[in-house]
Amino acid sequence: MGIKGRIGQRNAPTVLNALYNKTQFWDGRATTLEEQAGLPIVNSVEMGQPSLRATVAKIGAIREYREEFQHVFGRPLNGPDLLRAIASYERTLVSFDSPFDHFIAGDKNAIDASARRGWELFNTRGRCNLCHALSDQKRDATYFTDNDFHNIGIGIIRHNVVALARQAEQLIKSGDTSAIDRAAIQSEMSALGRFLVTKKEPDTASFKTPDLRNVLVTGPYFHDGSQETLWDVMDHYNKGDGLQNPYLDQDIQPLALTEGDIDDVVAFMASLTSPDYKEQGIKELARQRALSRTTRPQRDTARAFGPKPPRPTPPSP
Ligand code: HEC
Repeated sequence: MGIKGRIGQRNAPTVLNALYNKTQFWDGRATTLEEQAGLPIVNSVEMGQPSLRATVAKIGAIREYREEFQHVFGRPLNGPDLLRAIASYERTLVSFDSPFDHFIAGDKNAIDASARRGWELFNTRGRCNLCHALSDQKRDATYFTDNDFHNIGIGIIRHNVVALARQAEQLIKSGDTSAIDRAAIQSEMSALGRFLVTKKEPDTASFKTPDLRNVLVTGPYFHDGSQETLWDVMDHYNKGDGLQNPYLDQDIQPLALTEGDIDDVVAFMASLTSPDYKEQGIKELARQRALSRTTRPQRDTARAFGPKPPRPTPPSP
């Protein structure tokens, strides 16, 4: 939700541990935090400022900011320093030291038996490590992301991605880069994800693998915020979403996880909550658990325990 209640197409990614992101935004269209910080300020559905220069003028009208910038940077307030200041602040939002970190460091009882089983499942039958770890072979417990992009089937049915890709190809051929940028944030073509950046067909509706630290307190989930609880996320993976999705990642397939398995993986994800968010995490887990006992919109047990569905071929141009 942005200025004047305007709604954008994307769920705000967390700023916690953002300093480790290799690329910024769900589609990786910016590299540095400085580059990222400049865009929401002027995006018309986010902060809606006419330009960075106008923003500098506005902030410069406040004496404390003027003096602080002079003090820190040794020169008058300007656009690049404003972005440096925001990015530097973000780099302080480092969040580790979760119960899981104590567990991995050797304190076997730092997380309960359910979370321990969840960590096993994460690396085996759950197949989560294939993307949420730096390497497929080695258990990596630092960032929970491969810094890569995948189509895991989010928003595919709602948006008819294949038709959108055709439409976007026309737009890309027109070579109008600012129109392409607006499409990423303000139009339905947002669903095309990484494709709008690389223009490569296999990247259609691919998004960045997010870090899972503090995921319990950073809902809703996925690039479009379409899932409310971690149980809904698990139901999505369990059925191996991907009907009518020719671009679905090969690693997404039905998982045949039982309800007990799902609870365990959720318990593992909850154990990634840092001490600063402990209280909030306890409340949120209780809220999500209660909700999951009554509403499970993504659950499809027949598909979860069924065979891997055939993958449709991409449409020919
Ligand atoms: C093929 C790669 C892949 C696999 C396998 C995978 N993920 Fe993901 N995960 C992603 C990507 C990519 C996203 C973002 C997708 C989007 O929003 O469109 C994501 C998003 C998430 C999110 C939402 C995070 C947020 O901040 O919104 C959670 C939670 C998650 N995954 C947990 C898991 C778990 C648990 C498993 C195993 C059951 C798993 N993932 C398996 C790639 C993968």
